[in-house]
Amino acid sequence: MQMTLDTKPKELVDQCARCHMRREQFSTHFNFEGTLLDHYFPQLLVENLYFPDGQILDEVYVYGSFVQSKMYQNNVTCNNCHNSHSLKLKFEGNNLCAQCHEPAKYDTHKHHFHEANTEGAKCINCHMTGRYYMGNDFRRDHSFRIPRPDLSLKYGSPNACTGCHEDKDDKWAWEKFQKQHGAVDSIHFSDKLAPGIAHHPDAYAGLAELINDKSEPEIARASAIKVISNYSSDDLIDQYLTLLNDESPLIRAATVDALSEANTTDYTNYFLPLLEDQKRTVRIKAFYGLGGLTELQIPEQYKESYQKVKKEFNAYLDHNSDFVGGRIKRARYNIKQGNLQKGIEGYKSALDIDELNNQIRLDLANLYYKDQNFEKAEETFKKVIEQESEYGPVYYSLSLLYAELNRTDDAIKQMKKAIEYMPDNPRPYYNLSLLYGKIQDSKNAEQTLLKGLNIDPTNESLLYALGYHYSSTNQSEKAKNILNQLVRLYPDNRQYVNFLNQFE
Ligand code: HEC
Ligand code: HEC
Ligand code: HEC
Ligand code: HEC
Ligand code: HEC
Repeated sequence: MQMTLDTKPKELVDQCARCHMRREQFSTHFNFEGTLLDHYFPQLLVENLYFPDGQILDEVYVYGSFVQSKMYQNNVTCNNCHNSHSLKLKFEGNNLCAQCHEPAKYDTHKHHFHEANTEGAKCINCHMTGRYYMGNDFRRDHSFRIPRPDLSLKYGSPNACTGCHEDKDDKWAWEKFQKQHGAVDSIHFSDKLAPGIAHHPDAYAGLAELINDKSEPEIARASAIKVISNYSSDDLIDQYLTLLNDESPLIRAATVDALSEANTTDYTNYFLPLLEDQKRTVRIKAFYGLGGLTELQIPEQYKESYQKVKKEFNAYLDHNSDFVGGRIKRARYNIKQGNLQKGIEGYKSALDIDELNNQIRLDLANLYYKDQNFEKAEETFKKVIEQESEYGPVYYSLSLLYAELNRTDDAIKQMKKAIEYMPDNPRPYYNLSLLYGKIQDSKNAEQTLLKGLNIDPTNESLLYALGYHYSSTNQSEKAKNILNQLVRLYPDNRQYVNFLNQFE
């Protein structure tokens, strides 16, 4: 894939991307053979790197943004704007965009509502906002999106208007926007993706639409595939299994990743054919997904491919062994293979590179817990707290540990802290109510469930626990009311129907 005059637009993007992309490498070296996904897998739109709507947050370089854009989908490419040799912009100011967007339509007060030739009338100031990195490196967002103050109000993402009008707030911008343009007339994928990345409870339906919508950018679909696994639904696994055959290798790869997270061997039959996928990243991810099987368990038909990909997989691990991500990958593979000790060693070696990484330290603590090394687990949880006292998930896990050790009062104390630092997460309310149940504090158990339902009114676990609570404390009218809600929300669940019938 050398660059020539005949290079197709999307191929050209791939060629620039190899240096202008935040990514993980899957080949030992780049040799111009194959395509992008034979060598690299792009960082998807995830928390901490991107805002929930896909705008740049951390430094992610250009590729992950540009492939979100309508321009990329319509075969606009890097050298429409950048000279491939000098890398200079081909035209100054709004003339760069006027190559394709008629000035009579866009370079007008009627379009942008600002005085001509001012900062507020520059196309890129509204459609290509930027951020500073490392102090003075200004990088512009290549997703070429429309400013959306309404999304800022909902998900905290930035928008061009208040980015420049620093003395105004998003509410002001949204009001002015509506006065100038009316309602937003085109639905952007971020309307479906942002709720998921921002952990909104009602995100599932939008994400499910997005993962199946082939007209949307692949990177948005792939990112939705990742984030939708945070939501439970009966039909999700079926959707995933279908997406393993999607024509886009990025989608196949993201789906293998999502299914591999579930530590079961239920899907291995579906991964086997992907050992023969055209793209190396997909093959290697499928091999990892098959980690729950021993070599002997691989069917005869796939043994040869398995051996080939095993080499690619090991080369990939070796190549990445100086990075935290590479060490974690190896550790998790060892755990899949049933070697918890090696997994623990691997996590420790990842911390050798990044001592302050509390996500990894928390995982390590949970591995000690799983290994029933409770003392080490407690010590490690406490170290995380010492390093980052406002990190909610650590209190949640520590509480589960204390609960297991029957230190219920300590468990309650930690679970309350989990709620303090993750007030929008319904899960710790559920666990806290169980803990109150354990010490027969039925009043607090009920209060806690009600508080959780305040945040997430249709939460299945919370509703079930509350129904159960009312039933076991002989408050049948209240129990009936809650169970009716559950049956309405989850009509296919026989257990809820039977439970309700006990009161009829
Ligand atoms: C072999 C790696 C590599 C490839 C391939 C590559 N670049 Fe770059 N490019 C760099 C590096 C390194 C920099 C400097 C660091 C930076 O600004 O991010 C750079 C900088 C740039 C800049 C900023 C220049 C400036 O004056 O600030 C532009 C624009 C650019 N590249 C565009 C492209 C385009 C378009 C392509 C594909 C036709 C491409 N690059 C391919 C490595 C590469
Ligand atoms: C529609 C026009 C357009 C397209 C298409 C485009 N760019 Fe840019 N790019 C710009 C503008 C405008 C800037 C800002 C330049 C400045 O501030 O001087 C920029 C800046 C850059 C920079 C400098 C550093 C940064 O991140 O802001 C790099 C690198 C870059 N582009 C690479 C690329 C690559 C690679 C592609 C294709 C994947 C691409 N651009 C596609 C318009 C474009
Ligand atoms: C080589 C042609 C080309 C150039 C140059 C170009 N665009 Fe585009 N642009 C397109 C095409 C094609 C579309 C998709 C139109 C559609 O969806 O019908 C588009 C769409 C857009 C959209 C709509 C995005 C959305 O989500 O609806 C914006 C905003 C935009 N361009 C801004 C810019 C800006 C700003 C520049 C200059 C920095 C620019 N374009 C330069 C071709 C171009
Ligand atoms: C002050 C902010 C602002 C500036 C400056 C601006 N735009 Fe826009 N642009 C918007 C907004 C807001 C929308 C969405 C309008 C809507 O949905 O009715 C939009 C929509 C667009 C669209 C997609 C809608 C369509 O008609 O296809 C394109 C393309 C576009 N702008 C191009 C440009 C170009 C080219 C320039 C520079 C000449 C420019 N814009 C300058 C705010 C701006
Ligand atoms: C890069 C800077 C910049 C961006 C981006 C920008 N503006 Fe402005 N805006 C200005 C400046 C400067 C003025 C005053 C001069 C003028 O009217 O052009 C202004 C004036 C205004 C005014 C009239 C004066 C006022 O304060 O009531 C409104 C309304 C406005 N902008 C709304 C918007 C909205 C909505 C957006 C986003 C779609 C936006 N602006 C994006 C710079 C910007």
